[in-house]
Order: sequence, then C-alpha cells, then structure tokens
Amino acid sequence: MTLLEHLKLLRSSEGQEVLTALRDLAPTAAIEIAIATRLRKSFPSELVTAAMSMHDLRVRARAKFARADEMWFTRDGLEQATSESIAAHRASRFAGLSKVADLCCGIGGDLLALAGQASQAQLLAVDRDPLHLAIAALNADMLGVRGRITFVEADVRDADIHGLPGIFIDPARRSDRGRMSLGQSEPPLEWCLELDQPGRVVGIKCAPGLDHLRVPDGWEFEAIALGTDLKEAVLWSPAAARASASATVIEGDAIHRLQPCPGDPVTVRAPVAGETLLDPNPAVTRAGLVEDLARTIGAGKIDDQIGFLVASSPVVTPFGRSLRIVDSLPWNEKHLRTRLRDLDAGAIDIRRRGLAGDVDAITRRLRGKGGQPFTIAMTRVANQPWALICRPA
Ligand SMILES: C[S@@+](CC[C@H](N)C(=O)[O-])C[C@H]1O[C@@H](n2cnc3c(N)ncnc32)[C@H](O)[C@@H]1O
Repeated sequence: MTLLEHLKLLRSSEGQEVLTALRDLAPTAAIEIAIATRLRKSFPSELVTAAMSMHDLRVRARAKFARADEMWFTRDGLEQATSESIAAHRASRFAGLSKVADLCCGIGGDLLALAGQASQAQLLAVDRDPLHLAIAALNADMLGVRGRITFVEADVRDADIHGLPGIFIDPARRSDRGRMSLGQSEPPLEWCLELDQPGRVVGIKCAPGLDHLRVPDGWEFEAIALGTDLKEAVLWSPAAARASASATVIEGDAIHRLQPCPGDPVTVRAPVAGETLLDPNPAVTRAGLVEDLARTIGAGKIDDQIGFLVASSPVVTPFGRSLRIVDSLPWNEKHLRTRLRDLDAGAIDIRRRGLAGDVDAITRRLRGKGGQPFTIAMTRVANQPWALICRPA
C-alpha cells in the first residue's frame, strides 16, 4: 500500500476510531505493544500499524504545533516543517498582501501560518510531492482555511507566480540520499533569489549557517532562535528588508528583535571580578550583531576575536545570558582546580569560545565535591587562553 493509500485508510471512519483510541489511551512505549495487540483483534493489522505511526508523529509534532493531534504528517514532512511560533513570526511580514505563494509548502507548517496572518490573502501552495500536498490540504481543512488556498502539484519552476506580490519559499535541504551540504538546497538559493522583483515581498528560509557572502546587497539576513536554540535563517528581499541583518529571539509569546546599531568601535578590555559577562544568544552571533548588542547595552568586548561581552553593571537582555564574574585568570587547569576547591565548587558548566579543548573531559576534571555550581567561560583575553569563573547573575 502506498503512503497516500495509508492516509486514505486513516481518514476512514475505522481509521479515525483507531487514532482516537490511541490518543485517548495515550500509549507509552512500554504499553504500546499491548494496545496494538488489542486493536488488531478488532481492526485490520495494516490500519493499526499505519495509525500507530501517525499517532507517534502527532505526539512528536506537539513540540511544533498546538493542534498536532488533529493534523496529518509524514516523518520527513514533520522534520522539515517550521514550528508554529517561527512560522507565525515570519508570516507577519506578508500581512496585508492580496496574494501570497508558499513554494515548497510541504505538509503546510508555513502555509497555515500564512493563512492565519495574511488573513485576507488568497494563497497558492505548490509542492511536487503529491503526498505532502494532500497533507497540506488536509491540515488547511482542519484550520478552516482551505477555501482560500489553491493547491498545485508541480515543480516550483513551472508554477505560475506571475505578478504575485508575496512569495515565501522553503526549499528542501535534504534529498532521498540524506541531508544536503550547507548552502545547498532544491531548488538552489540562486533560483530562489531570482524570485525577487521590484516591490515583491520574498522570504527564503535557509540554514542559519549560510555564508553571509551569498546574501545579495539590499537583502536582510534574519537569524531566528527559539529561546537559546538557533533554529533557522530567512532572507528577505529588498521590499521586505528592514535592515541588512537581524537577530530574532522568540520566548513564548514575546518576540525580541535586534538590528544593527552603528556607532563607535566597541572597547576591548580584560574582564574583572564583580563585572557581568554576557554570552550572546546564538542568533545574535550568527547575524553578526555582537558589537551592535554591545553598543545597545553599553558593554565592551573581552577580546577582539571573541563573542563574550563584559559590562561593569548587571545586564538584563533577551539577547544573551548574563553571568557574574567571580574570578578572572589565565587558563591553567591546575590553578583553576585549586581556585574552584577554595570556592567550594560542585557542578561545573563550561562555555567555550575561541579555545580548543574537550569540554566533557575538562568538566569531569574540574567539577568538585562542594555545594556551589559554577559556569566557567573557557576563552581568550588579549589573545591569551583565559578562564572566567562565573555564577548566574
Ligand atoms: C523543507 S520542506 C517545506 C516545509 C514547509 N515549509 C513546512 O513548514 O511544512 C520542502 C518541500 O519542498 C518540496 N520540493 C523540493 N523541491 C521542489 C521543487 N523543485 N518543486 C516543488 N516542490 C519541491 C519537497 O517535496 C518538500 O515537501
């Protein structure tokens, strides 16, 4: 049976019954086999197997979608789908446009957010995978937005996008042979960039590690983190760009955005005990905005080449984690161990920037038997290997 046939089977009344039973019984791995055996007495075995795997996907999808238990997925489609909060944030730049295309729509992660945000817009959803397209349509149905969406099964190169004011594209970054190397996608970035036209809002999802040299002049590179987890980047065409680069940190319902803050060069100085060490969010680092963050909060850099910042007073910012410096000393494991023993150190968390070393092994060697947890920044100051013993600010 093909996956499309499985999907049909799962949507039958019997399929719904089995899926509901699985959801209501909330099987854990331990009792799953027992439940499957019981269900197989009343339902075809193939249906139960298909339902168990859809249920498993729905459980995983709860991390990305609030209504995951009502949605449909493929393993690949779920793994590649954008989570709801990021998709909604991104979709907001398409608000107010009359027609928006979602090219490479997959199972509809971005599509549903576009339908929600651009609430008046007609949408065009294109994917060459008939199963993904069918699932995107079912998910749109579930949200009651299907009526505004035209679904087209095609290679995006053949889609009619003439005159559309908005285009979002999330090109595939994996193929049947696995993950593509960094910077590669289908269709390739160069093709996606050509979607740009004067006045057209184009958003291209890409890997956060994308080489900035591939971002054309006038486009914005936006790095997006969920909390401290760097998730992805988006390139915005000149009509949508608000800056050359930006860092977005999403924390629950709060969205924090950092843009370039031009000004004097940031001072570089050695940190001392009592000061605040700021470890910038990876979205800030990836967007190349560490110095901009330093200017925004009045901090200095601990070294020209290192991303840690130092401030003389406490700093509260969504763009980094603040630590209070207890001691600042050249990196020497023996001295460090002695100092930590004096400080009654127990658990150790190492944050490494600019210094090579096996963090796990060093953590094992440095952790003590005391009751005080410490964070150690393993880094460079004035180009010398350096240790900063810190506590949460
Ligand atoms: C990264 S996924 C899209 C995920 C989607 N944005 C979401 O949030 O659910 C990429 C999709 O692109 C489709 N695809 C890849 N190359 C394509 C092409 N040339 N034309 C149309 N679809 C394509 C794949 O079938 C896959 O469904």
